[in-house]
Parts: sequence; structure tokens; C-alpha cells
Amino acid sequence: MKSISKIAILFMVATVMVSCFDTGNPNYQYMPNMYAPVGYETYGEYEIFPGGQAAMLPAEGSIPRGWQPYDYPNTPDGLLLAKAELKNPLAVTEENLAAGKKLYDIYCAVCHGANGDGQGILVQREKILGIPSYDDAGRDISEGGVYHVQMFGLNSMGSYASQTNELERWQITQHVMNLKAALKGEPLVTPESIVAPTVEETTETVTTETEH
Ligand code: HEC
Repeated sequence: MKSISKIAILFMVATVMVSCFDTGNPNYQYMPNMYAPVGYETYGEYEIFPGGQAAMLPAEGSIPRGWQPYDYPNTPDGLLLAKAELKNPLAVTEENLAAGKKLYDIYCAVCHGANGDGQGILVQREKILGIPSYDDAGRDISEGGVYHVQMFGLNSMGSYASQTNELERWQITQHVMNLKAALKGEPLVTPESIVAPTVEETTETVTTETEH
């Protein structure tokens, strides 16, 4: 009889202990110092922050690492200005030209065609209309303009600013300017063609100076 009541008491104690256990929460922690973070949790709720959330937007004017600010506005005037004055900072190298062609074939050729005549596969299948050829006289496509439309898109052409980085956009631009030159039957820009005129220019200046 005695042992039965002992067992009963033991059982009750065990039940009380187990019934208070919440599996969703660590009830007892042994030396909990490192369990709970000291800093604010990334998405935690804290009254001290505006909106009560630790996750906030970046401060105005912040520039993400590896991102360069682009000052030409996303307007028709911005496009004209970029067309007129924005220049490709990249050197003409085999690597840049090859990378530009590769990226162009991935991102642009579906609409603009591999040679830039506006006859990409989507145009042939009549999925999209109004793709210009790069030698379209009315558009007067320049390197600044090519970069600008990649940043912001233009009407039914989307922006490529999230898919490509600054270097890649300029590499694509280099390739597009060569496609335009090929369509117009003008000489292509190659690493050699860049070196040659500079030498000629220097000799010209030298000769003119000696004439005076
Ligand atoms: C979904 C199809 C599509 C894709 C893909 C596309 N474009 Fe376009 N692009 C267009 C259309 C449509 C226009 C004409 C927009 C207009 O003038 O209304 C255009 C216009 C242009 C122009 C002429 C801008 C001017 O000055 O008038 C350039 C340059 C250009 N695209 C470059 C590119 C480059 C570079 C890529 C790849 C990064 C690309 N496009 C990808 C559809 C596309």
C-alpha cells in the first residue's frame, strides 16, 4: 500500500513536469549565454525602430557595393543627352569584344538579331514588333545611347540593369557599335584599328607643326 502511494505521487510529479513542457520553446537552457543574440535580429520586431521593424530600407543616397551611380535621367531628353556625350570607358580589346558578343547573343539577339538588323527569332515568329535595325538612320545610335537603353529600357524593350553589371553593359555596347558599323559597311573597331589612327594622328600633328 505504501509503495502504491509512492508510485502515485511519483507519477503525479512526472505528469506535472511533462505537461508544462512546451516543445515550441526551449524551457530550460543550460548556460544560455550564447543562445539568444545580443544584437537585434535581422527581421525582429523592436519598438525602437521606425515601423517597429529591425529591417529597414537603405538610407537615401546609399550606393550598393560595386554599383556606380548613373546620372542620366530615364526620360527622352536623358536618352538624347547620353547619346550625345556619354562615351564608352572600356579599352577595345579582344576580351571585351568577345565578352560583348557572348552577352549580346544571350540578352539581345532574340529581338535584335545576331547581326543587329532587327530580325531576331522573336520577330521572325511574330512575337514582337518594332525592333529597329542598328543602322536605322533616324535613331543615330551611339555608344552612350546603347548604354542608356540597357540601363532603363525603351518602351517595349526592358531594362538590363539587373541582369548585367556596368562592365558587361559597356562590353555589349562595344559589340553593338560594331554590329552597326558592319550593317553600314563601315570598318569595325578592333584593337588594331584603335592603335593605327592614333599613330596617323600623331604624325599629322607633327607635320602640321613643322609646316608653320
Ligand atoms: C524584347 C525584345 C528586345 C530585347 C531582348 C532587346 N531589345 Fe533593344 N529594343 C527593342 C525595341 C522594341 C526597341 C525600340 C524601342 C522604341 O524605340 O520604342 C529597341 C531599341 C533598342 C535600341 C535603339 C535605342 C535608340 O536610341 O533608339 C538599342 C541601341 C537597343 N535596343 C539595344 C539593345 C541591347 C544592347 C539589348 C540587349 C542588352 C537589347 N536591346 C535587347 C526590343 C528589345
